[in-house]
Amino acid sequence: MHILHVVGARPNFMKVAPVLRALATRSGIQQTLVHTGQHYDANMSDVFFEQLGMPAPDVNLEVGSGSHAQQTAQIMSKFELVVLERKPDFVVVYGDVNSTVAAALVCAKLMVRVAHVEAGLRSYDRTMPEEINRIVTDRLADLLFTPSTDGDENLIREGVDQGRIHFVGNVMIDTLIRMLPAARKCIPAELPERYALVTLHRPANVDDLDWLSSMLQTLGDIGEGMAVLFPVHPRTRQRLAEAKLDRVNGDRLRLMEPLPYLDFLALQTRATVVITDSGGIQEETTFLGVPCLTVRENTERPVTISAGTNVLVGRSPARIRAGVADVLAGNWVKGRVPELWDGHAAERIAAIIERS
Ligand code: UD1
Repeated sequence: MHILHVVGARPNFMKVAPVLRALATRSGIQQTLVHTGQHYDANMSDVFFEQLGMPAPDVNLEVGSGSHAQQTAQIMSKFELVVLERKPDFVVVYGDVNSTVAAALVCAKLMVRVAHVEAGLRSYDRTMPEEINRIVTDRLADLLFTPSTDGDENLIREGVDQGRIHFVGNVMIDTLIRMLPAARKCIPAELPERYALVTLHRPANVDDLDWLSSMLQTLGDIGEGMAVLFPVHPRTRQRLAEAKLDRVNGDRLRLMEPLPYLDFLALQTRATVVITDSGGIQEETTFLGVPCLTVRENTERPVTISAGTNVLVGRSPARIRAGVADVLAGNWVKGRVPELWDGHAAERIAAIIERS
């Protein structure tokens, strides 16, 4: 059986790693790894392959950046040739990025079976490009692997055949569990006692420069009480430079380059509070039991709120400040680890793919 995996953007890499490993232990399985090149900076891509111990991609489509239509179309036209040449029995796609939906569309037209890892998540907010990617990918996929039972419920509500849906748990947490001992060795010696760890990259937060400016002001205020460490995504870096906001960098609010996987995980384990608009970080903080303020009005990962340590604070400086004050006052839920976030999701996926 020939299985071809498609990844493209930073959050895909920690999801494919455990699935590659789980399938590698099974006999009679050939694997091909395709990188679309959606993320291409060394600190957004190569360093993740190194730290996660992944093989180099067999194919790199080198599509790079562009508008959504350009990027998706380029991936499709280049990926189609790879599928025609390599003739996989199954293509596995991950998460909700443009590479995910582009690959799924190509396979559907070529009648190659698709498995979607991290299926069924819904924010019910179609202004998010990722929501469109999720809906379309799930419509096309033959096997839908959900990380939490809300995913199953969403898919059933949308009329997906129940036989295709498999609740397997969270592959991102497989990687976190495997890498945690190594991450603990990466904790910097000079780390402040208390600090907020920040990431922001969603268009809704960083493309609106008025809001971005007010967000930085809020982070500066938080910096009066504790250090604020902010590894800056390239998209955010560009916006900050455009608005000349990158000058706020200082001792209390530290703008940093994007961090490698282990270094970022290390900082999460010790953070007083995490402030983010990422999807995966809502999950990682829930697993680690670290308070998380999500700077969005909705989330496709509601289990991080119902079971975990996540709270939506929206685009509201007052709610962000109040959240930080609650954390500092010790007024935060302890949370619990959601069902099947146990380090074995990829093994369940491998077993299902093998028998499909
Ligand atoms: C993408 C995903 C998003 C995911 C995020 C994680 C989509 C629609 N969005 O958003 O879901 O949370 O990745 O990081 O797929 N850039 C660089 N170097 C890189 C990559 C990007 O400089 O290696 C810059 C480019 O100017 C580019 C911009 O960042 O235009 C945005 O990159 P893009 O891949 O379009 O989307 P992300 O915002 O990274």
